[in-house]
Amino acid sequence: MVSSECVPFAKTGGLADVTGALPAFLRKARHDARIIIPLYSSVDRDKYNITVAFRQVTIIQGGQIFNCRIHETIADGDVPVYFLDFEPFFARENIYHDNDFNDYHDNPLRFMLLSGAALELCRLLNFRPDVIHVHDWHTAILPAWLKRVFNNDPFFSRSASVLTIHNIAYQGRYAGYYYGFTGLGEEDFTSDKFECFNAINLLKGGIYFADMVNTVSRGYAAETVTPEGGHGLDPFLKARGDEYTGIINGVDYSLWNPETDPLIPANFTPDDLSGKNMCKSVLQKEFGLKQDSSIPLIGIVGRLVEQKGFYILSECIEDILTDSGVQFAILGSGDKQLEAFFGSLPERFPGRVGSFIGYSDELAHLIEAGSDFFLMPSLYEPCGLNQIYSLKYGTLPIVRATGGLNDTVENYNKETGEGTGFRFSEPSCRAIYHTVNLVLDTYYNRKHHINKLIRSAMQQHFSWEDSAAEYIHLYERAIEKRNPNQVNTTVPESE
Ligand code: ADP
Ligand code: GLC
Repeated sequence: MVSSECVPFAKTGGLADVTGALPAFLRKARHDARIIIPLYSSVDRDKYNITVAFRQVTIIQGGQIFNCRIHETIADGDVPVYFLDFEPFFARENIYHDNDFNDYHDNPLRFMLLSGAALELCRLLNFRPDVIHVHDWHTAILPAWLKRVFNNDPFFSRSASVLTIHNIAYQGRYAGYYYGFTGLGEEDFTSDKFECFNAINLLKGGIYFADMVNTVSRGYAAETVTPEGGHGLDPFLKARGDEYTGIINGVDYSLWNPETDPLIPANFTPDDLSGKNMCKSVLQKEFGLKQDSSIPLIGIVGRLVEQKGFYILSECIEDILTDSGVQFAILGSGDKQLEAFFGSLPERFPGRVGSFIGYSDELAHLIEAGSDFFLMPSLYEPCGLNQIYSLKYGTLPIVRATGGLNDTVENYNKETGEGTGFRFSEPSCRAIYHTVNLVLDTYYNRKHHINKLIRSAMQQHFSWEDSAAEYIHLYERAIEKRNPNQVNTTVPESE
């Protein structure tokens, strides 16, 4: 697996949760899964016992010579993790952008180097992967290299590729000049592969060359083959037919489980929610909210960006606060405008809104555990993990019915009290406002329904075992495609 992020080493969003968990579950199913990510300066080498594996690794790319090092450690689940160490590229303040959220201009080169290093590492380890699994645009060049550069190389000629799209809006579009660094020929700089209005579109090339392509929910797979959801790439995904699928992300319940979570003030189970009340009380205190367990509390955690629907929310949250007694606990970072807006709400609504602008694992867990509800008004959402975590913590998700949110949250039925949360369709202030009203009406007037919803939510289980099994099936299909005349040998014999 080749990724720009991986829990617990480097994370900006759900991609890291996925690449941190999936390899471990593949290993449980007795596949030799390994992962390589960059050695960012934020990676804590001492904490994770990261040591040098290869001191001198020379990678030649785009006519340039890069002298790198590769480090290694073993992560939970016995997963070998490798880190590409090249300081000029990775010893920077953040993973993708500077402190003002400007993307680093050389991002295509940084992540192409990671892709090149992944291949070089395989040779150094004499590890011939049956499948190379790449994630998002950053490493989407690799499937093309396997086909174009290494097709007749005995070491890699059988290695298949799988590309997972975690978010189709991020495509890796850069000036056409960067195509020169790929080492690919002019014949692949065409509008069905890497070219897009004279620029390079790395994700599009990956979609063309990967043996199999998937995204992180069935709903989002269906949305992305339409012009509304495809961000321009729908025709190319459509062209892949049944070689493009959706696999829902699992949850690593060793990290996100209220019964065992070490990051929350008290643990709790579906049968005894007293710990949840204590979490609520601590959350109210930490976020400067009035400490009163009877006041409904809505939590929000996420990247403060347009995708997540926070601009729309910013237009109606004041009305919600004025017209109801609800409290909000907000954690996030991202667009400066949204940071300023949500950061200033506590001053204007003291005791009613608490916000923390920044990144904090502890606070994310506290919000999941201590809130009554969890709001995700996303414009689109490939999978979304926080709503799935919320279910397990008995924190009822309020979500827009899109992509993975729609696939994972069952809407409240006012007649029967069935469901696991609340869904609304329109990406509008009106819809958010009305849905929050319904939520509060249920909270105050149909407590038995809330209790029933909480019970159903906490029973939901999005296991990585199941999703890993689907990935293994996808890998098998990729291998068959790469080696049409050979019997598949990837599944190890049982002991
Ligand atoms: P995305 O990957 O689009 O950001 P997901 O819902 O898949 O959305 O995953 C987001 C992940 O990042 C979750 O694990 C969430 O808890 C975490 N996260 C997002 N923002 C923050 C933050 N400010 N502090 C801590 N964790 C955060
Ligand atoms: C992306 C998506 C998110 C998904 C995550 C992990 O960041 O925005 O919906 O859960 O990837 O696949």
